[in-house]
Formats: sequence, C-alpha cells, structure tokens
Amino acid sequence: MSQAHPAGKNTTYYRSHWDEVYLNNTRGEREQEWHLAYAVIKPLIDPYVHNIIAVIGTKKQCIVDIGCGGSSLGVKILQDYEFGSLLLTDLSVEIVRVVRARHVHDARVNVVAADCRTLPFVPSDSVAVVIDKGTLDALVGDADKKSMLTECGRILHEHGVFVSVSFPAVERVKLLEQWCVASGMEMRTKVVAYGDPAEGHQAMFVFIIAKDLSSVVDPPDELTRSCLNRMAKTGSLFASGDDVGGMESLFQDNSDDESLEVNSEDDVLLTFHDSTIYRSDLRLFRDGQWLNDHAILFCYEYFHFVGVMAGSETPLKNDNVLFVHPANTMLLQYGDEEDFENLIRSLELKKRELIFIPVNNDTGGMCDGSHWSVLVYEAQKNRFISFDSMGKNSATKGAAISIFKNLCSRLYGHQAEFVDACAPKQTNGYDCGMYVICISEFVAASFIRDQALLVHDKEDTGCHGKLERAMLTSITPAFVTECRTRWVNIVNGLIHKK
Ligand SMILES: C[S@@+](CC[C@H](N)C(=O)[O-])C[C@H]1O[C@@H](n2cnc3c(N)ncnc32)[C@H](O)[C@@H]1O
Repeated sequence: MSQAHPAGKNTTYYRSHWDEVYLNNTRGEREQEWHLAYAVIKPLIDPYVHNIIAVIGTKKQCIVDIGCGGSSLGVKILQDYEFGSLLLTDLSVEIVRVVRARHVHDARVNVVAADCRTLPFVPSDSVAVVIDKGTLDALVGDADKKSMLTECGRILHEHGVFVSVSFPAVERVKLLEQWCVASGMEMRTKVVAYGDPAEGHQAMFVFIIAKDLSSVVDPPDELTRSCLNRMAKTGSLFASGDDVGGMESLFQDNSDDESLEVNSEDDVLLTFHDSTIYRSDLRLFRDGQWLNDHAILFCYEYFHFVGVMAGSETPLKNDNVLFVHPANTMLLQYGDEEDFENLIRSLELKKRELIFIPVNNDTGGMCDGSHWSVLVYEAQKNRFISFDSMGKNSATKGAAISIFKNLCSRLYGHQAEFVDACAPKQTNGYDCGMYVICISEFVAASFIRDQALLVHDKEDTGCHGKLERAMLTSITPAFVTECRTRWVNIVNGLIHKK
C-alpha cells in the first residue's frame, strides 16, 4: 500500500521507479553491487565489527540492510563474522521477490519489502550493523534523507555501527555531520579511490557511524586525510585549495540579492577551451535549474579534453568521438549548403565513429528553448539514435528529425536510420540538460570501453536494448541530482587549478 510521507516523496514514487529498474534488468544486473564490493568495504569496517564482537558478541545480534537491492554485502558480513540474523529490506517488490528466492533455505535471512523511512517492525536499539549502500543516494531531497537517517538511528543498538556508502558528494558529508551532532552520534569518513579524485579518479565515501567510536583505532589513510583536509578548506573534493576566499564566494547563495544577480551575469569564472562559464552558469548546475548552452558546451568540452567516466576508474577518451557544440547544432538544423560544407570539414564529420548532438527546441537559433535531448550518430551502423528524457514525442523531436534529414541528404545518405531509444525519464521540468550530459557520458563510455553500442541490436526485442536497460538502472533522478554536485566540483576544481 502506498504510504504518504509528510515532507517528502510518497512510497509509490520510489517503488514504481525501482520496480521498473529491476523489471527491465537481466538476471546479471539484479545481482549488481552498487558503489563498492565487499572486498573493498571489509577492511574498513573490520575494526568496528571486532569492537562489536568484543562488547556484545555477534551470535545473537542482527544486521539490517536497508535498500538492499541485489547486494550480497549483508550476507557476506553475516557469514564472515557469524552474526545471528540478517534482515534485508527494499522498497521494490521486484527485487524483494528475487532476493527472497535466493535465501529461501537460509533461516538466518529474512527479506521484507519496506520503505527505509519507516521500519516499525524493527525494534528500537536492536540492530548491531545497519547497512546503507546507495540507498541514501537514491532518496530525493533532504526531507526523505533525514527520515531515513532518523529510522537508522532509532533501530541501531547502542553498541552497534551504521555503515553508509555513498557517492562522493560534499553535501552528503555535511548532511551526515549535522545528523550526527543532532542525534549524539560520532562519525568517521573514508574516501575510497584508486588515486586522488582531483586527478580524475572515481571515488566513493564510506561513513562509519556509532554512539562511541573512541575505542577503535583506524589504520592511517593518507588519501582520506588529504581529501578531508581539502574539503574542509575548499568545500570541494577536487579543488587544490590555493584560493580559499574565492571558493567561499563561489558557494555564496546570492539568489535573493537582485543587484548581485545582475552584476554576476558578466562575471566570467572559467574559460575552458571553447567554453566560458559565468557565475550565473555555475548556479544552473545547482538542483532546480535548467542548463543553458554554456553549461552544455562546458560539459562537452570537458568530455572531449579530459574524458568521460561513467563507471570507469580513469577518464576515457577517443578522438573519433565528437561532442558537437550547441551553436553548431543550430547550424546543423538551419544552416545552408556553405555552412554544411564548413561543418563537415572543420568537425571532420567523415572520420567520426560516434557523434553527440545536443538538440534544443528553440526556433530562433539561440539555444534558449525549453527542452534539450541528445541525438547520437553511430557511423558503424549508419544510424541516428535519439535519447530524450521527456519521451519519444517531446518538444525536440522535430528538431532532431530536421538534423537527421539534413545530415542524411548532405553526408550520410538516405539509407541512414533514425532510432527512438528509451531514455531514462526526468521527473521534473528542468533536468533535461542534465539528462543530456549523463546520457552522453554513459553512451560515450560504453562505446569507448566496449567498442559497441547495443541499442536495438538483433538479439534485443522491442524498446529495451541492453544499453537502454543499463542506462535506466544507472541514470536515476537521484543520480542526476548527484551529478549536478559533481559538475559544480569540476568547475570549482578547474577554477582553482588556473
Ligand atoms: C542504488 S541501489 C543500491 C542497492 C544495494 N544497496 C547495492 O548496494 O547494490 C538503491 C536501492 O534502494 C532502494 N530504494 C529506493 N528507495 C527506497 C526507499 N524509500 N526505501 C527502501 N529502499 C529504497 C532501491 O530499490 C534500490 O534497490
């Protein structure tokens, strides 16, 4: 039954999204571990679990994984440390069905469909290890995140430990720090990465939270120490910290101050190759803002010159993958013969294997319409694939088809195909540009890493090709919100590298 939550989204909102994710997944993806594997997490939590063993033992104690998905983290902790029982909970009835079947013969494991913000069937102060891996990340907005944390704090045993694994958002550290202060908890933060995030390495946060952590001594961890220092000084995981004053002003919210807002329009914060980021552009990356062509161009320049990540440990690059500037998209839509000749030559369109074209529904040539989607040209299959977070009949469909027709008649021939792919859906009116960025990065990374695009291939039927299914799983509304923080951090990092 759908349950309304006072300040946040209702249960149905999350359930329908995650049921769709799991329903569209193959078996392999249902066993997916988000964020980090047990082998990486184990050494981090080991001293804390040994502390539990010393104080209350494990044999009669219980573990709870909230938003367990298909993860095996809980089971591995149960087995390794011989806990008495494991409760796996998730909102999605689809994944609960699969996970329940997996553990049907193990009396120690219980699997329950539940919203992590309300767990009335779990007694207070009863759980030795509470696990959240990617669930706090999946919740939208602070109200829902705080409800989840309150419930975790309620069920946690006084000698227990709460392990939370999340994307490396500085906001997450702040939220958890505030919650710990308010609820009398202590927290230790670990940064997990193969190298410094400031040099492009993908990172995750592991938070260890308990009433009293004083008796546990952690092994030294230089990466975590330097990342936490940097975040404390600069507010960013990526910035060098040379100019702390400048960074503080970047984070100032001047949105109520009209005169500052007007002045800020002229305030160039960063020039990165062909892109310029104004102070007002940086604000657009914050949640709730529609991305303009400056922001899209900056991300595309970053993909071209630094590379795409989307699950890789280091940035991936391929010179035959082209990210078209939004201004050139307008020429592809409205240009004359001469414009096309110039574009074909200057963008070297004939040699490109994959081309990303951000499409806008503006009709005046200024990229200031109301919607963005992305059209991808795949040379090997001579096809154009349209990814649109508003669905297949959105406001940019006409523009995408004009670009397709123009390029077919001038370059790729009339046998080129137009494919409407199933894209992850935005759940508000402003995130379309962020979806263009996330989808472009995901598709480019799959192409560079696996040398293939798997949309509508012969083995797939209907709308959900393998690439689309993988994208639906990865590019969720919460993930897109996290990406905004990542881009703010990238811009800030580059400003401070100057
Ligand atoms: C990013 S996945 C992480 C899954 C798993 N913990 C892992 O690490 O592989 C987020 C999970 O949270 C679940 N979820 C989302 N909203 C939830 C809610 N309100 N209550 C409980 N689970 C939720 C989803 O169904 C999904 O399985």
